[in-house]
Amino acid sequence: MSTKRKIVALALVMLGGARAGQAQVPPARETVRSVLEGVYTEAQAERGKAAFGRECSACHATGEFTGAAFRLGWTGQSVRDRVENLRATMPLDAPGRLAAKECVDILAYVLKLNGYPSGEKELASDSERLSEIRIDPKPDTRKP
Ligand code: HEC
Repeated sequence: MSTKRKIVALALVMLGGARAGQAQVPPARETVRSVLEGVYTEAQAERGKAAFGRECSACHATGEFTGAAFRLGWTGQSVRDRVENLRATMPLDAPGRLAAKECVDILAYVLKLNGYPSGEKELASDSERLSEIRIDPKPDTRKP
């Protein structure tokens, strides 16, 4: 076999291997959930509201996290992205002070402010799970 043929053969083997590897991992879509499904509880959103009042309202009005601002800055991301961004940057005068749970509660409150449904189970602060929850736009805001 010429060197060129060997390389082609090797590449084919590697491609085959990659395909076989991929086949074992379920497609991402199967695990992805959406905030449209009701991923937080009412009680959690209430806690988030209290935390927002305590930690955020000195500098922010809730209107900064709804409507167009929400659609531009939040939709299309995972809940985890937003929680981590929040935790790393806010409150501006003391980033990192908030517990992950508080950030998740505030996220639940923001979802409620934007009219997303609540559900039976709390949004957990486990970041692995949060990365699977997508912030989809509400159907009524998808239209131009
Ligand atoms: C001391 C004032 C202050 C406090 C307290 C504060 N923020 Fe902010 N926040 C700001 C300012 C100023 C900006 C815009 C400048 C910037 O992005 O750095 C901002 C930006 C943001 C953004 C947009 C950042 C981005 O990357 O999209 C979010 C979301 C946010 N704040 C959420 C919160 C939440 C939630 C709290 C409460 C936990 C909070 N902030 C507390 C001052 C504050």
